[in-house]
Amino acid sequence: MGKVYLIGAGPGAPDLLTLRAAEILRRAGVVFHDALVHPRTLDLAWRADKIAVGKRSGRHSTAQKFINKRLVDAARRYRVVARLKGGDPMLFGRAQEEIEALREAGIDFEIVPGVTAATAVAAELGVSLTRRGLARHVVFVTPRAASGARDNDWAASVLAADTAVIYMGAGLAEAISSELIRRGKPGETPLALVESATLPDRKALHGTLVELPELALKAGAGPAVVLLGEVLQDALVDRRRAAVDDIEASLKQA
Ligand SMILES: C[S@@+](CC[C@H](N)C(=O)[O-])C[C@H]1O[C@@H](n2cnc3c(N)ncnc32)[C@H](O)[C@@H]1O
Repeated sequence: MGKVYLIGAGPGAPDLLTLRAAEILRRAGVVFHDALVHPRTLDLAWRADKIAVGKRSGRHSTAQKFINKRLVDAARRYRVVARLKGGDPMLFGRAQEEIEALREAGIDFEIVPGVTAATAVAAELGVSLTRRGLARHVVFVTPRAASGARDNDWAASVLAADTAVIYMGAGLAEAISSELIRRGKPGETPLALVESATLPDRKALHGTLVELPELALKAGAGPAVVLLGEVLQDALVDRRRAAVDDIEASLKQA
């Protein structure tokens, strides 16, 4: 019986993989990977059969059950089975369902953490999610709920937090902005929408909560998180100043 490794592939850039993950990939006989895992990360598993599983979003529960079954079956055929997931496997990655399937089947497993989108985005912006005297309460949240999931007041968590990182929310920008403002979050709360962090086509859009729907329209189709909170105030002011400088420079040239 083989062992299954649930591995965090990080947010995109292949060199953000842990050394432990790289070593396991080199030994893997088979790799089941998410859609957004970088080809160079997959290349590390040079002798493994590579199987793409997982859709970009909204994966159906029967598909997840199918993945669980494939992991169990693979552990009966291969000594080292790698399940590569975007970011960190233990955040919004349905890892628990895979863990439970492996436990039920009596299969040995190990989790290898990865860099999650929230910390990758914070690094990219040069904005700490916590700041002495300003922010000591951070939430990672998603407004996206699976069908049939029990009610979860994601907005209450965002309202209570100093800094919020909203996963899988770019397509729900209008709803996020209006719900938070309706419940008392100031429309001028600074935020950033960051798409494809750590990848060459990354994009960071700065604005305020009331401007979120407008910013989302400017984003592309890559994975994106929304960062919200006072820790982003300086970055917003810098961006606005740079935009004014640009306009002044082009007026002078004209
Ligand atoms: C299904 S969740 C998986 C999260 C992952 N387990 C993690 O720890 O980052 C997918 C969401 O993560 C976020 N995400 C993943 N990679 C990202 C990236 N490179 N830049 C911005 N957001 C990203 C987006 O919100 C995307 O919709």
